[in-house]
Amino acid sequence: MNYHILTLFPDMVVEGLNTSILGRAVNKGILSIEAINIRDYTNEKHGHVDDAPYGGGAGMVMQAAPICDAYEALCSRLKKRPRVLYMTPQGQVFNQKKAQELAQEENLVFLCGHYEGVDERALEMIVTDYLSIGDYVLTGGELPAMVMIDCISRLIPGVLNNGASAEIESFHDNLLEYPQYTRPEIYEGRRVPEVLLSGHHKNIEKWRREKSIQRTWERRPDLLKEALLSDKEKQFLQEYIDGK
Ligand code: ADE
Repeated sequence: MNYHILTLFPDMVVEGLNTSILGRAVNKGILSIEAINIRDYTNEKHGHVDDAPYGGGAGMVMQAAPICDAYEALCSRLKKRPRVLYMTPQGQVFNQKKAQELAQEENLVFLCGHYEGVDERALEMIVTDYLSIGDYVLTGGELPAMVMIDCISRLIPGVLNNGASAEIESFHDNLLEYPQYTRPEIYEGRRVPEVLLSGHHKNIEKWRREKSIQRTWERRPDLLKEALLSDKEKQFLQEYIDGK
């Protein structure tokens, strides 16, 4: 996967993404992350990339030309026209399903806006997906781009050490993850659940699945509508609810 981030703050994304698990994946050659400074594509002598909005109003609007020129230069270099994801609270809310879809691409372009927004014509000309990370407003698209890149990357084979864990964690099957424990066996009088010490893999698997179902019902009941439960598991959940 090759990420190309169109931004006015390249340091912010490069510093943030080249660490920890993603940094290791970059070093291994599984990912590449490049920040493209939109300011490098201005034709104005003062290096402006923004101007006042037509019709008046507060703030500044990012101009179309530097953004489109930056994208076209990238397309010429790649000899491809990759998808362009525009980070905006007006977009479709990003989720695990969207991450899975985007993880199939070879190249992804993230367009990060600032100020009062981006000239609509640039968006019409190059954007393929309008994406939000939630119903709140941030100062720019860099953090949303970083959130999405982190989430997409962990689905790419080889990025996580344990190939299975990307699937097992929260949201697999639309269920939340079961609780985890590590040493010591007793902490402040609280014991690790007995079944986890038993070495009985079938029982452990059943216990974890039941905890996932309980936890999803307690914390995110909205997810259960789409969860695939066996008849036995549905019965287990009903009994758990009735017993409350
Ligand atoms: N830009 C500003 N707020 C945003 C949000 N919530 N999601 C994506 N991009 C944004």
